[in-house]
Order: sequence, then C-alpha cells, then structure tokens
Amino acid sequence: AAVVEHTFVVSQMNMRHLCRDTLVTVVNGQLPGPVIDVTEGDSVVVHVVNRSPYSITIHWHGVKQKRNCWTDGVPMITQCPIRPGNNFTYQFNVDGQEGTLWWHSHVAGLRATLHGALIIRPRQGAASYPFRRPDTEIPIIIGEWWQQTDLVQLDRDLAGGNFNYSPSAATLNGKLGDLHYGCSGAMEEGHVLEVEPGRTYLLRFINAVLVSEYYIKIAGHRFTVVAADGNYVNPYTTDTIAIAPGQTVDALVVADASPGSYYMVAMAAQPTIIVPPFPVTTTRGTVRYRSAGAQQQPLVPVMPDTHDTDTSFYFHGNLTGLQNRQPSSSSVPTRVDERLLVTLSVGSMCRRQGQSSCARTNAETIIMVNLNNVSFQLPGGATESLLEAHYGRGLGAMGLVTLPDRPPVAFNFTDPALVQRGPREAWLEPTTKATTVRRFRHGSVVEVVFQNTAVMQTDSNPMHLHGHDMFVLAQGLGNYDQARDVVRYNLVNPPVRNTVLVPSLGWTAIRFVADNPGVWFLHCHYLFHVSVGMATVFIVEDGPTVGTSLPPPPANFPKCDGSRT
Ligand code: C2O
Repeated sequence: AAVVEHTFVVSQMNMRHLCRDTLVTVVNGQLPGPVIDVTEGDSVVVHVVNRSPYSITIHWHGVKQKRNCWTDGVPMITQCPIRPGNNFTYQFNVDGQEGTLWWHSHVAGLRATLHGALIIRPRQGAASYPFRRPDTEIPIIIGEWWQQTDLVQLDRDLAGGNFNYSPSAATLNGKLGDLHYGCSGAMEEGHVLEVEPGRTYLLRFINAVLVSEYYIKIAGHRFTVVAADGNYVNPYTTDTIAIAPGQTVDALVVADASPGSYYMVAMAAQPTIIVPPFPVTTTRGTVRYRSAGAQQQPLVPVMPDTHDTDTSFYFHGNLTGLQNRQPSSSSVPTRVDERLLVTLSVGSMCRRQGQSSCARTNAETIIMVNLNNVSFQLPGGATESLLEAHYGRGLGAMGLVTLPDRPPVAFNFTDPALVQRGPREAWLEPTTKATTVRRFRHGSVVEVVFQNTAVMQTDSNPMHLHGHDMFVLAQGLGNYDQARDVVRYNLVNPPVRNTVLVPSLGWTAIRFVADNPGVWFLHCHYLFHVSVGMATVFIVEDGPTVGTSLPPPPANFPKCDGSRT
C-alpha cells in the first residue's frame, strides 16, 4: 500500500461565468478541485493550507474513517475548524472500500466550490472490476454555479428565515455548457467527452450541488450502472441516471452509436414547486466521436419532466447490491437492536425565546426543518467539538438531548391535503431546537425508517450518515407501516450506500452496524435542509475489546481558539 500525499491550498479567486466575475473559494485554483486517486489500502495525507478568509474543514464523503473519527472534518462535531492562515493535515486510510467517493468542505455553502473526486481503485487493478473492463475512466461532477458569493452566510440567513438563495446554473466538471442563462454573449462550451467507436467508458458521476436531485441522460446511449456511493451494484441498464446531492453513481457507457455528437444533459429534478422557483438548472456537455465526419448538431436526449418523481423512485428501487465483493457489503444483519422511525419534516416555532404560542406570521414564527420535531443546533458557545468532549468524557456539559425514537404525534404523514396547506397553516409540528444525539452500543444493529412528511411539501431528502454505510432495505410511498412493509425488505442483496434518498411523500428503511466508535453526523445533504436543522448526531461507544475504541486525537489538531494541541 502506498502513501498518497496532496497539498490543498484553499484561497479565493475570481471566476468569470454569465458575463460577470464571481469571487469563489477553491482548492489549488481549480474548480472542481484536485482528484484524489488511490488504491484500496492506501494511506491518504492531505495538507490543508487555509489562505481563505473563512474557517474551514474538509470532509471525505463516504470514507468510513474506521477508528479515525478525528479526520471526518465536520466543524464543531468532529473538530474545530481550521482558521484563516492556519494549516491542518488530514491523514486516513482507505480500507475495504472501492469506487467513487468525493471530498468537500463541510462549512455552510462553501462546498459549492470546495469539492473534488476521491477515487479508490481495487488492489488487483482494473482487471478485477466485477464488470466489463472499461478502456477509459472519467469523473464527472455535477455542480452549480452560484453568483451569490456569501455562501458562508447561508446558514445564518436561512436560520433567520431568509431563503433568498438560488443557484444561477448547473455545471458538469465546472463547465456551464451552451444553454442560455439570461445573459447575452455568454455561450460557453460544455464538458466534452471524446470517444472512440466501440470503446467502453466508466463515468464516475458525483452530485456535488447544494439543492437538487439530478437526472442525467446521453442521447442515443444507455448506461450500465455498476456502483453507487463506493459500493458495487449488480449491473443495471437504464437510459436515465437519478442522483441526489451527496451520492455517486458509476456507470459504463459503450460508444456504440453511429459516429457523431450527442448531448449529455444533467437536469435538476424539482419535486416541489418552490416559491420563488429556482431557474430550471439544466446543463449539457457533449459526447463526441473522434471519427465523426462533418460537424452536425448534437442529438438532444428527451429528459424526464422536472417535477417527475417516478423516474427517481424506480431508479433507486431497481438497484441491488453486489454482495461479498467487499467486506463492508457482506451480509445484512438479521438481528435488530435498535429501531427508530424518524420523520423528515418542517414545523414552526416562535421567534422569541421561551414563547410557546405566537401569531402565524413571518415576524412572529419561524419555520424549521426537523427530525422527529427537533431541529438540530450546535451547542452554543462550545470551546471544543462534540468529539473532543466525548473523548474527554465532557459531553455532560454540552446540553445534549436524546433524539426521540419516533415522532411525538403520529398523524397521516403523507396526507396530500398537507401539501397544499404548508407548515405554517398546518401547525401540526411544533418544533424545538436542540443538540440531539443518539448513543449506540458498539456493534449494535440499528434500523432507521426515514419518513418524509407532506408538511414539507413534496421534497425528497438525501440522508447521509457519516462513518458507516447503510443497507437500503426498502422504500415506499405513503406512510410506513411496519407490519405491512417489513415483508418487502430486501435482506438478500440490498444496495449499500452512504447517502439514501427518501422519496417524495414516502419512506426508506435502512440498517447499519454501529461499529465505528466516535461522533457521527447524520443529515440531509440538501444544504437548505441541513442548515436549518435536518440533522442529528449518532454516538457510537467504544467497544470492549482491543482495537475497538477510539484512539487519541492526531498531532496538531486545531483548537477552537486558533492554537493547536
Ligand atoms: Cu457530504 Cu456531512 O456530508
């Protein structure tokens, strides 16, 4: 196994798109940032040099960080952020995982431009892929271009009820493509993939956007999906890929069409008719055959409707895991030690502290998304991260609240009438704010059913668990009903993911083994949701045997006062 070393210099620079310069925060002057390309079993060393004006962290999305929670990179959950002018070196191993993951900043909206691919190759080389060996492999990151430059304020603004944020365009590998976005003379060439007839390409898609699920199609071609979130799946052939923020999808494409040019389109799926609406964010790149003769207009794929939720539901439902290829995705535990039903919802609370009833107006009440009616907030005035407090047996002072096992009121979660009324009128969900956690004994098997509610209209929610992969047992529409729905569980070959999509007006059931000691964030990967509380923390206790407890923090761990250990 090798040591793969990178230096990430984080700084601000101007980039010009849509006829205007925008100040963005990037790594090494690149957008997307550098690719970390490693082999399973390697050690990764990344020296982060923070020359930006912000306090930052980098999260290695999907890397399990076994007994290495210190390096998970979540501000105030696992570490104090790296202050402007300071450095920190992240060191971790990539063991027992293969496929496409990614890295991104975990501070407010900075991940819009601070992100890149993290590719883990099998030790025995590409010949050992459990699918047809590709001739070429290409990471393709779906991103968004934001002309608002204060994305670091976004958390505070959203929490204060200012939802005036929206992306200006979608991108493929940083390129906006040739669609118009309301500024004349702004035609840009999109991402170009040059192909040779007959060759096979492995496209490693990453959804790095802040706010939307995406649909991807290439005119005249089909995808064979072979992996998702760094876990192999049984080959699944489809003409449309559905990918939610945080997720990755690896797909083979054979250049078997007649030589020519074909658009690759990525289009935001917007289940909820948002008011005000996002500009429809669609971008296109081109798949161009090298042998193609005279230039012709590329063929355009027919995309699903932007409000289509079925295509995503069936895409996710059709994936099955390829078992026994990786230790991580071996077999589904049949025993369940802890069961949680977690509603992903939105409710209101009075703006004024301590007040329990108030007028349903913007001035008096605030709308907060929540899990089981509790909206997550970081502990106020903390001088160390939750992980440091946990390690030092100091969590008692942090004012933590246990995440309830189920919602306080069992109403008809997906009643269509609620979609019409919205949270303020429905008034079903009084919400409180707290630092919620749930503790698990080392080795516990945890089953979580994530239940969407119509109170938050028809949003889907990509729920991401740090430090563990999840077996995705089943999804369904409507209200989860244990007696009826457990029989639908796939306990044979469920897909294994780190980010599960909970379908619009439906639910998803997952199981995971809590065997990685530490403090792990669980949250919706829509920035607008995690910013206002759709999150909690799972604490996995140390195990009783040697090699099952959390070691001490690494050297030079940043302290919240700007010094280091
Ligand atoms: Cu990709 Cu907690 O994030």
